[in-house]
Amino acid sequence: MAIDPIYATALEKSHWDVPQDYTTLFDWNYSDDRQDLLNLYGKGKSMQWDSDDRIDWSHELDPENPMGIPKEFFPLWGAEFFQKMSAKEQGEAIRHQAAWSNSQFLHGEQGALICSAKIVQNVPDLEAKFYASTQVMDEARHVEVYKKLVEKIGVAYPITGPLKTLLDQVIRDSRWDMTYLGMQVVIEGLALAAFSNIRDNAKDPLATAANAYVMQDEARHVAFGRLALRDYYPQLTQYERNEREEFLIEACYLMRDRFKNTEVWELLGFPMKECDEFVENSEGLKMFRTQLFSRIVPIVKDIGLWGDKITSAYSDMGILGFGSVDVDAMQANDMRVAEEHDERRQHVDAAIAAGRTATET
Ligand SMILES: [Fe+2]
Ligand SMILES: [Fe+2]
Repeated sequence: MAIDPIYATALEKSHWDVPQDYTTLFDWNYSDDRQDLLNLYGKGKSMQWDSDDRIDWSHELDPENPMGIPKEFFPLWGAEFFQKMSAKEQGEAIRHQAAWSNSQFLHGEQGALICSAKIVQNVPDLEAKFYASTQVMDEARHVEVYKKLVEKIGVAYPITGPLKTLLDQVIRDSRWDMTYLGMQVVIEGLALAAFSNIRDNAKDPLATAANAYVMQDEARHVAFGRLALRDYYPQLTQYERNEREEFLIEACYLMRDRFKNTEVWELLGFPMKECDEFVENSEGLKMFRTQLFSRIVPIVKDIGLWGDKITSAYSDMGILGFGSVDVDAMQANDMRVAEEHDERRQHVDAAIAAGRTATET
């Protein structure tokens, strides 16, 4: 089904037109010396999966807490007016907040699908085009997964203004590396931190498995950026590198300061001033917002965009420390967690099959 009937607020338009102005490049050399990118392409081919087989969509979500998050993780948990509400009202707010987050994941994934298709066209070398083509398929699968989750929650939210602004900027930019930087490093970097929060803390088995499997694909997407951009940036002039750093600073501030759940609180008729004050002053939420950058900062450092401007902006945002995160270890952990989910699923499937055989004999 199309999701328009479940949007909490009506859409202005069902489609969004973004004019494009970039050059499509053919590679007549059919270059094949970047073995590292070809290895990644090989992994992309062999690690494809079908969300219908790997995820148990028959599982129903709790309507009052679809992701099964611990209550104290809810952004307004502890606010005086929220604590006075009935459990049913609180459950409705938790459902809407889950709908809002998963809707932003869904719109972000559609952005990733479009951006990776654009990279296929405007990245110069064939090895990178090959790899990016596998990412197109991955991102289509991610759209499918979050669409199903949003349908199960039963409520959808339109894309937020700041995410739309950043996507618009990234899609219009004609340079392939800027597409990658904005989409993969910033937007998907933030999403990855939010996915890992659900994967590691939520209790619902469907929500945790879906996020773990998506993160397994994302580990390859991040690896591409590291390989391609680490080689590309030293070839640019200082002026061009500064431009990239300025873009990253602006994008990170935009996401930090304006990417909040305001639309939900407004829709539910919550006291906006109290919500704002609570969210601004809560130590737990400050930590959560900082944590959202834990995936972006180490990659920015790794690809060599680590000049004075960016380090002082990140220091101002309190996120500079993430520069020392071990990206390889983090990605290895993402792969391992997805494999553990697979093992549990196979275990359950085997137990069901054994039960079936026992009743038949
Ligand atoms: Fe994705
Ligand atoms: Fe991705």
